[in-house]
Amino acid sequence: MGISFQNVDFSYYGYSKRKKYPNILKDICVNISGQSEFVAIVGHTGSGKTTFTQLCNGLNLPTSGVVSVMDLKLTHKFDGALKPIRKKVGLVFQFPEYQLFEETVLKDVAFGPSNFGYTKEESIKLAKKYLGLVGLSEDLFERTPFTLSGGQMRKVAIAGILACEPDVLIFDEPTVGLDGKSKKELMNLLKVMNEEYHKTIIIVTHNMDVVAEFTKRVLVFNEGSIVCDKTPVELFNDSKTLAKYSLDLPEVSRLAVMMKEQGLIDFDQVPFTTLSLAKLLGGKYE
Ligand SMILES: Nc1ncnc2c1ncn2[C@@H]1O[C@H](COP(=O)(O)OP(=O)(O)O)[C@@H](O)[C@H]1O
Ligand SMILES: [Mg+2]
Repeated sequence: MGISFQNVDFSYYGYSKRKKYPNILKDICVNISGQSEFVAIVGHTGSGKTTFTQLCNGLNLPTSGVVSVMDLKLTHKFDGALKPIRKKVGLVFQFPEYQLFEETVLKDVAFGPSNFGYTKEESIKLAKKYLGLVGLSEDLFERTPFTLSGGQMRKVAIAGILACEPDVLIFDEPTVGLDGKSKKELMNLLKVMNEEYHKTIIIVTHNMDVVAEFTKRVLVFNEGSIVCDKTPVELFNDSKTLAKYSLDLPEVSRLAVMMKEQGLIDFDQVPFTTLSLAKLLGGKYE
């Protein structure tokens, strides 16, 4: 059981019987399973992507309609405990490094699990496990998080969410501001979480190469609505939708098209991933 939106509208000004406020999200209907999905959310700035992620873990409640998270139903009337939802759905905000607050890296990461009822020892054990998984070296565990580099701080923040072991992990533009190496490491970590730990990963991104290389499903947001729900390959072959919502093809595809125009390679099907372009080039020069 995962996350399901049924006819969800959302306004930042809340629910009123008398007054109708402008809706930021409009009639959202979508189901995302709690196991092994890898979903990209794309769309222009202001289209409602961040707002959507915040409805997925109860940070915002729907103005009308129902958001079902695991077995809880969230409506505008909901006043129950949100903690069980936060345990199941981990949300990594944009620039999560700004939310670090503990004295040491280890304490910061252990905070989440201890907040969900794990003992101190269990929380430290989980913190060490996930700091290792994000690739932070042990000699940094006792450092103040604020003395680390930006990329290291982001790893700590992500380890803090992973350590709570949610079923669904949501990342709001996680690769923005990271250098190439850190970007690659982060995306490979998400791949491991998805393929080996069977987590559902939802990632808000503008990077179409990331969409093509890693995700299995794309939701396109436009003016607060989901206007397209397809596989990356379906989307990148759908030139009408790409043009209508001014979405880019991956860089790899643009390079391949340019090479075809120059007569350097030939193909019927545009490659969308580095691997498929490499295969094409390999074939040509075999
Ligand atoms: N806290 C807020 N209060 C009022 N309006 C907001 C708030 N946060 C975002 N908005 C508005 O909601 C719309 C969608 O924003 P957002 O979900 O952040 O879009 P995206 O993540 O796609 O850029 C924008 O018009 C934005 O100005
Ligand atoms: Mg946003």
